[in-house]
Parts: sequence; C-alpha cells; structure tokens
Amino acid sequence: MKKATLGITLMLAAITLIAVFSAPAMAKVKGRCDNCHTMHYSQGGTQLSTWGAEGPYNALVVNTCLGCHTGDNVGGSSGSVTPYVMATSEPTYGTNTLAGGHFWWVSPSCIGPNCGDAKGHNVFLGHVDPLPYAPGGEFHGCSTRNCHKSLAELSNAGGDLDGRYGCHGCHLNPRHHADDSATVVGETGGWYRFLSGHLVAEGHGVEGIEDPTWQFVYNANEHNEYLGLDMDKTGTGHMDKLAHTTTGYCTGCHGNFHIQDTTQIGASPWIRHPSDAVLPTTGEYAGYTQYDPLSPVARPSLPVAEPADVTPGVDMVMCLSCHRPHGSPYDDLLRWNYQDMQAGTSGDINTGCFACHRNKDTGS
Ligand code: HEC
Ligand code: HEC
Ligand code: HEC
Ligand code: HEC
Ligand code: HEC
Ligand code: HEC
Repeated sequence: MKKATLGITLMLAAITLIAVFSAPAMAKVKGRCDNCHTMHYSQGGTQLSTWGAEGPYNALVVNTCLGCHTGDNVGGSSGSVTPYVMATSEPTYGTNTLAGGHFWWVSPSCIGPNCGDAKGHNVFLGHVDPLPYAPGGEFHGCSTRNCHKSLAELSNAGGDLDGRYGCHGCHLNPRHHADDSATVVGETGGWYRFLSGHLVAEGHGVEGIEDPTWQFVYNANEHNEYLGLDMDKTGTGHMDKLAHTTTGYCTGCHGNFHIQDTTQIGASPWIRHPSDAVLPTTGEYAGYTQYDPLSPVARPSLPVAEPADVTPGVDMVMCLSCHRPHGSPYDDLLRWNYQDMQAGTSGDINTGCFACHRNKDTGS
C-alpha cells in the first residue's frame, strides 16, 4: 500500500471510530427486522420455536410483551439488551431486577411464602385477583364502580377499557422505534418508558430521565429521575391535572390516593399519605439530603443540577417513593419490607420510611 493511501485509510478509520464512539446513546430498538418481526407468522410453512405460540401478533412482532420481556437481566444498556420484567425462576430483588421491580412474585410460577396477589400488579390473563378494581379509583361513568378493573381480565361491555389489560393497561402506546435519546424523555420519545394517558389525559404522558441500564446499576448518582408537581394539598389525581408526573399517572387509576385534602390546606394531619408533597426543611425530613434509589423523590423540574442531592423544601415524596409499579417480594408492591419498619428500634436506620422519617427509628 502506498504511504499516502495508508494515511488516508488510517484517517478514515479514525473518523469512523470517532463517529462510532461519539454517537448519542440511542435508546430505541436496534437490529435486524427479523429479530423481532415476522411478515407472515410463517417460516417454511410453520412457526419457529423461538416465536411465541399464540401469534400472529399486532405490529407483526414475534412474541407477546411478556414473551419478549421474560429472561434474566445480566446488565447492559438500552440499545444493546432487552430489559426483563419476568423470569422463569426467582430473581434476586435489587440485584437482577430493574427500577420497576419484577412480576415474578405475583406470577402463577411463584410458589412459596413470598408469592401472592398482593406482591404486584396482576397482569396474568385469567388469574382471579381478590382486588377486582383499582383501589382509590373513581367512577368516570363506568356504572357504580371505577373503570379500571383487574389487569388480568380482558375488558368487556359496561364501559370498561376495551382490551386494555396486562402490560397494555399501563404502557398504553408502546413506541419501541421512537428516538428517546433526549435527556428528558417526553412525547417525542414515546413518553418516559411508554407511559401515557387516555380520555381526559389524551396527549398526556410521563416525562422523566431514563437511566440507560433501567437501574440494573444504581447508586446516589446513577438513577432515573421522576417529575413531581406540588399541589399544596388540593386537587385529586389524573394526568390532566398533575401534568407529566408519575403520580398523575398512577392516580389515573388510583385517583383518590393523591394528596387530596381541601379542608386543611397547608397543615398536618393528612388524610392520605401525601404524594407530591414537598419534604419540609425542618425536623426529621431535613436530614434526607443524599438520594437513595430505594426511596426516590420527585423533582419539580428536570434535569437537576446534582442527581446525588435531595433538597428538602424542593423535592417531593411520590407514589414511587414507596411502591414498585411491577411488583416486589413484599406486600402492596412495596419497595422494602414494611414489617421491618419498626418505630423506636435501631434496625433499617435511614432506609425505607426512615429515609424521610429519620427520627422515627431510634429518635422521636
Ligand atoms: C428489537 C426488536 C425490534 C427490531 C429489531 C425491529 N422492531 Fe419494529 N417493532 C418492535 C416492536 C416491539 C414493535 C411493536 C410495538 C411498538 O410499536 O412499540 C415494533 C413496531 C414496528 C412498526 C409499527 C410501529 C411504528 O413505529 O411504525 C413498524 C412499521 C416496524 N416496527 C418496523 C420495523 C422495521 C422495518 C425493522 C427493521 C429495520 C424493525 N421494525 C426492527 C420491535 C422491533
Ligand atoms: C420483539 C420483542 C419485543 C416485544 C414483542 C416487546 N418488546 Fe418491549 N422492548 C424490547 C426491547 C429489545 C427493548 C429495549 C429497547 C432499548 O434498547 O431501549 C424493549 C423496551 C421496552 C420498554 C422500555 C422502554 C425504555 O424507555 O427503555 C418498555 C416499557 C417495553 N419494552 C414495553 C413493552 C410492551 C408493553 C410490549 C407489548 C405491547 C413490548 N414491550 C413488546 C423488545 C420487545
Ligand atoms: C391501568 C390502571 C392502573 C394504573 C395506571 C396503576 N394501577 Fe395500581 N392497581 C390497578 C388495579 C386494577 C389493581 C388491583 C388488582 C391488582 O392488584 O393487580 C391495582 C392494585 C395496586 C396496589 C395494591 C396491590 C395489592 O394487590 O395489594 C398498589 C399498591 C398499586 N396498585 C399501586 C400503583 C402505583 C404505585 C401505580 C403507579 C406506578 C399504579 N398502581 C398504577 C390498576 C392500576
Ligand atoms: C401498573 C402499571 C404497569 C404495568 C401493568 C406494567 N408496567 Fe412496565 N413500567 C411501569 C412504570 C411506572 C415503569 C417505570 C418504572 C421506573 O422507572 O421506576 C415501568 C417500566 C418498564 C420497563 C423498563 C424497565 C424498568 O423496570 O424500569 C419495562 C421493560 C416494562 N415496564 C415492561 C412492562 C411489561 C412487559 C409489562 C407487562 C408484563 C409491564 N411493563 C406492565 C408501569 C407498569
Ligand atoms: C420520600 C420521603 C418519604 C417517605 C419514604 C415516607 N414519607 Fe411519610 N411523609 C413524607 C412527607 C413529606 C410527609 C408530609 C410532611 C408534612 O408536610 O407535613 C409525610 C407524612 C407522613 C405521615 C403523616 C404526618 C402528619 O403530620 O399528618 C405519616 C404517618 C407518615 N408520613 C408515615 C410514613 C410511613 C409509615 C412511611 C413508610 C411506609 C413513610 N411515611 C415514608 C415523606 C415520606
Ligand atoms: C409513604 C409511602 C407511600 C406512598 C407515598 C404511597 N403509598 Fe400506597 N401504600 C403504602 C403502604 C405502606 C401500603 C400498605 C399498607 C397500608 O395501606 O397502610 C400502601 C397501599 C396502597 C394500595 C392498596 C390499598 C388497598 O386498598 O389495599 C394502593 C392501591 C396504593 N398504595 C397506591 C398508591 C398510589 C397510587 C400512591 C401515589 C398516589 C401511593 N400508593 C403512595 C405506602 C405508600
């Protein structure tokens, strides 16, 4: 090879390398179409064993939501691996589970003392949940009960949400091909983790900052960021009232569990544990200053200057401060074992409830 040609080749190689390594972290799906799509749900006159058995599926994909999202998380970032929310054997909570928790403990596969209906949102078709409707929900004209019945049942007549069961009950409009490389993911990125609303909330969805590993790796510096909106104890839930917050999103189905207290604006006692209430700057709350991903807070605006900081007087408690949306080994899909939160003892110092209620463990 002539010297000049070699030089140009090396230069081109260098440019290519720079291009590869400086490309923005695109979190949309990557790869050959036929990894995920089948044009006719047929290959050589039959179905491949790697495809889900119940097809053909919408959008010509090769599996159900659960089918593609069942497996063991081993790390890796978005754009290179699939985030798994279900497995074929028990995962280790907090080690190979992701930010949303895991469906294992509420699934029919889980047998044992840590398993059951209270461990998660029940998305397994045909399973009868003792909670047939979303607690705290409102009627919205769905006869005398709220519209959001069990996510394990296909909807039917009577004003229920047609076909919106399972993963679709919450991830209303999955947008796997949307470019969510913006720092704060909103509508153009398919909303934060494809969480959007409907009806009164049409055009609304959740905004947030998506951790590239879905919190497989997490610490004070590395975690998702959630948006909150302080309503000073007024207003019920829903996305149209609470802007693009996760609490607005949860209260789309659990409406009355928002801060809701119009009679006593600005003062304790509360009638529901507040969500999207600002941490006071005084007393026990003032000590929560370093972000703990086990008891996350919501921010009034994103991005934040310093992700590792919690700022009393600014940041808020929210639904996800205490709950995992998918599930956990604990009742009420809590992020930690509520039975371990014992007032006046020295266990679990500053974790769980004590992350904010710092004087309730050993102090007063
Ligand atoms: C890693 C998996 C994956 C790969 C690779 C993939 N897709 Fe998809 N695609 C999906 C999933 C899942 C959906 C359905 C849900 C959604 O739209 O988010 C989808 C939906 C679509 C849709 C309908 C929704 C839309 O965004 O327009 C089209 C069209 C589509 N894919 C085309 C393609 C083509 C063409 C390729 C190859 C160049 C491809 N996909 C590669 C997973 C994938
Ligand atoms: C063909 C396989 C496939 C199917 C079917 C599929 N997914 Fe996914 N999904 C993926 C992959 C791969 C990713 C990772 C994309 C990335 O790298 O960010 C993903 C990512 C996601 C995410 C995370 C998005 C983010 O912002 O990081 C959610 C939420 C999700 N899927 C929900 C669903 C739901 C709900 C369904 C059913 C409607 C579904 N998926 C069906 C393969 C699939
Ligand atoms: C699409 C409607 C819907 C959304 C959105 C929703 N839920 Fe639920 N939730 C339900 C239904 C239905 C039940 C009762 C059946 C079940 O447990 O699966 C329920 C049950 C619960 C339970 C009690 C579980 C038990 O069995 O004791 C908790 C806790 C909960 N949800 C928290 C949340 C949080 C936190 C969010 C926001 C991340 C949220 N929910 C979003 C519909 C929803
Ligand atoms: C009750 C509502 C709800 C249901 C039902 C639900 N999700 Fe989620 N999902 C969420 C929320 C909220 C997040 C964001 C969690 C966070 O960032 O803390 C999320 C996050 C995710 C992620 C990103 C990984 C993670 O843990 O953050 C994936 C992938 C996903 N969901 C897939 C699914 C699939 C597949 C199903 C059905 C088997 C499903 N979800 C059912 C609410 C739900
Ligand atoms: C992320 C922070 C945070 C976490 C975690 C948290 N709380 Fe709170 N809690 C608050 C805030 C903020 C208030 C309202 C303070 C105010 O303005 O009066 C509150 C109020 C309360 C009150 C009512 C006090 C009153 O004056 O009426 C009780 C009781 C309570 N929390 C119990 C708990 C329990 C039990 C847990 C664990 C399951 C818990 N909290 C977890 C932040 C938190
Ligand atoms: C401070 C922690 C905390 C916050 C914040 C919180 N929850 Fe809970 N939630 C709990 C605990 C603990 C339980 C179970 C024990 C109890 O109710 O005392 C529970 C129970 C529930 C239940 C089951 C109720 C039933 O009838 O069985 C639902 C549904 C629920 N929460 C939804 C929500 C939603 C939606 C939000 C946000 C608007 C929220 N929670 C905010 C701690 C919290």
